[in-house]
Amino acid sequence: MTGVSVAIDGPAGTGKSTVAREVARRLRLAYFDTGATYRVATLWCMREGVDLAVQEDVTAMVETMNVALVLDPKNPRVILEEEDVSSLIRADAVALTVSKVSTNLDARAALGRWQREIIAGELEGGFSEGRGIVTEGRDITTVIAPDADVRVLMTADEDVRVARRAGEGADALTVREAVLGRDRKDATVVQFHTAADGVTTLDTTDLTIEEAVNAVLRLVAEARVEDDAAVEAGVEAGEPGDAEHEA
Ligand code: DC
Repeated sequence: MTGVSVAIDGPAGTGKSTVAREVARRLRLAYFDTGATYRVATLWCMREGVDLAVQEDVTAMVETMNVALVLDPKNPRVILEEEDVSSLIRADAVALTVSKVSTNLDARAALGRWQREIIAGELEGGFSEGRGIVTEGRDITTVIAPDADVRVLMTADEDVRVARRAGEGADALTVREAVLGRDRKDATVVQFHTAADGVTTLDTTDLTIEEAVNAVLRLVAEARVEDDAAVEAGVEAGEPGDAEHEA
């Protein structure tokens, strides 16, 4: 049996990262923040002096960069060329530039291949020893892992999203522009404001983190029950050829 795959998408300020990380911690799964792959690619290009407007140069850099991700929800880390850049990728310089990479479709395809490999690795082994993975981003439920066992789109009212980010520091107007401006740019290449077919919308406007975590945990539990029922149905139907072998 393979591990469980949980995909969570949504714009900034919905509580997505906190919830994804906590769900992974409680279920002892790997935690994969795909935004970090876009951020580390951006940092690497900036360091190497690559012109981010030249799409093929950026893609070539993405394909050859030497990055290791630590998928521990208690302490997720990003290692670039053997240097821990987990904090550096959160810097304003990266945040303000990252859309140049995330709107580059070839770079997205290259990062997407890497992301799929990481997810597949955790369903069989890896950090979680095959228990599975919680992956968060913008296109996980739709493009990267459309067959995930649980797919959730987290949303929240715009004002609430901005207020949550403003609570983390910086003045309200700058935060509003940063949050909504980045969403606007990202929304030109991926759709993450309305749920695709089969994706559960979780509106966190009036939810605490604990309530949102519990809502996702319930969805995982439901998916597991369905999975068990499917396995049992398979057993009842019998393995093909069983009877003939005995005869
Ligand atoms: O979630 P974040 O702020 O760390 O994401 C960084 C950037 O990457 C942001 O511009 C959204 C983009 N992104 C994306 O396009 N697709 C993803 N799966 C994850 C992030």
